[in-house]
Amino acid sequence: MSLLEEIKRSNACLKERTKLRPRIAIVLGTGLGSFADKINVVDTIPYNEIPGFKTSTVQGHSGKLLFGTLDGIEVMAMQGRLHYYEGYTMQEITFPVRVMKEFGIKVLMVSNAAGGLNPDYIPGDIMIIKDHINLFPEHPLHGPNIEELGVRFPDMSNAYDKKLIALSDEINQRLSLNLKKGVYVGTQGPTFETLSEYRYFRIIGGDSCGMSTVPEVIVANHAGLSVFGVSVISNVGVDANLSNVTHEEVQQNTLLAQDKLAVLFTEMVKACHKIV
Ligand code: HPA
Repeated sequence: MSLLEEIKRSNACLKERTKLRPRIAIVLGTGLGSFADKINVVDTIPYNEIPGFKTSTVQGHSGKLLFGTLDGIEVMAMQGRLHYYEGYTMQEITFPVRVMKEFGIKVLMVSNAAGGLNPDYIPGDIMIIKDHINLFPEHPLHGPNIEELGVRFPDMSNAYDKKLIALSDEINQRLSLNLKKGVYVGTQGPTFETLSEYRYFRIIGGDSCGMSTVPEVIVANHAGLSVFGVSVISNVGVDANLSNVTHEEVQQNTLLAQDKLAVLFTEMVKACHKIV
């Protein structure tokens, strides 16, 4: 089956399993799945029941597609995402984004747990992603371009939509959320970085780093979706006295940002709903 046919089959499955037709999708990263509790869930579909979707193998990623409402507005949410380090291909990781586009999603909101590179950041901070640096060893658009899905050479100058960032600026000011704003460096993992690698990421312009998000955001841009992204800072990488980093610590520290993230995403959904 061709990729196009697979996307259409997957979309047909979702349309059959839910009556909701959201235009906003949310990807919940490591330790951020509990945001789903804020959603008034109407339909839950495990990834393994959706044709073409792979299952998340990582602890803290539950692997369900949720349909529900947030403050009365319909949303789709991926509770758990797929990572390159799990052994999936770039096409498999980004397949859900292709299906979102076919489904009618206009805005994609992504979140991740990330290491902090900016010395001003502390665990629990939320960073609005204004741009990214792609250090993955493979590109999700490598190979023949499928014109129906997007252009051969996608523009990435507005990869994280400036209009959506402006909306988050307004929310930040109005609710005094003390949000940071910076550049996300995406790497393949699964190792955390050496001290020298953290320093290198800082030197090339990074404020946070992690093992996800970049592939999905590239494909979302290819597909013409507007993207809004946040990093939740779960550990700080630039300190010379850095203690070891563990997945448990990362999960634990994302909890610090849970309430603030819920406020931000809810307000963003309300603001986006007016423009899509
Ligand atoms: N590096 C890469 N990925 C991460 C980190 C980190 O320090 N923290 C959470 N995800």
